[in-house]
Amino acid sequence: MDLVHPEIDRHLGRIARLDDPVLAEMEAIASAEHFPIVGPQVGRLLEVLARAVGARRVLELGSGFGYSAFWLLRATSPSGTADLTDGSNERALRCRDYLERAGFGGRFELHEGDAFEIADRLTGPYDLILNDVDKHDYPRALDVARRLLRPGGLFVSDNMLWKGKVLDSDAGDPATLGVVELTRLLREARDFETAFVPVRDGLSVSVRSG
Ligand code: DHB
Ligand code: MG
Repeated sequence: MDLVHPEIDRHLGRIARLDDPVLAEMEAIASAEHFPIVGPQVGRLLEVLARAVGARRVLELGSGFGYSAFWLLRATSPSGTADLTDGSNERALRCRDYLERAGFGGRFELHEGDAFEIADRLTGPYDLILNDVDKHDYPRALDVARRLLRPGGLFVSDNMLWKGKVLDSDAGDPATLGVVELTRLLREARDFETAFVPVRDGLSVSVRSG
């Protein structure tokens, strides 16, 4: 399902593009390998959100090979830091290589393994937490945000429309159920205010009450 009219989407993609050689390399690799990066539209939004809250410390649950981290590190330049997580050793190595070549060396820590086990060992407060883990685990990410996010900080989740599968009330697969459950939790949360944004595959942006 197209969430946004394809011509509008191409237009938004064009105007969001950032001219950077490492970013372009990541986009080309993602396209060639069909790896689901958030793309420039979401990247720009992440950067603006991080700058808007004056983020100095960010956490990613599910970093892939570092595409979204690129935008978040850009937003926290010159001295902000990012804790990044991914379950794949091969992706983590590529992530380090890309982000170092992009000039972010020394400002990120790459944690390899289960995002929730890693988060258990981290201490807050963070200014922004990006959730892009396996979708069946989405509800657990809200617990991490409750423990590690500062008041006024942002909890952002990717894929909150899950290619439109959230509309199928009969969908019983664990990924869709995880996204639907996080949606319900966010709507009922008294400690977060959430906007659902139909960019790319849907993004939720939740601000923690002060
Ligand atoms: C897909 C997209 C994502 O952004 C993600 O985090 C996981 C999977 C996908 O298109 O399958
Ligand atoms: Mg995603």
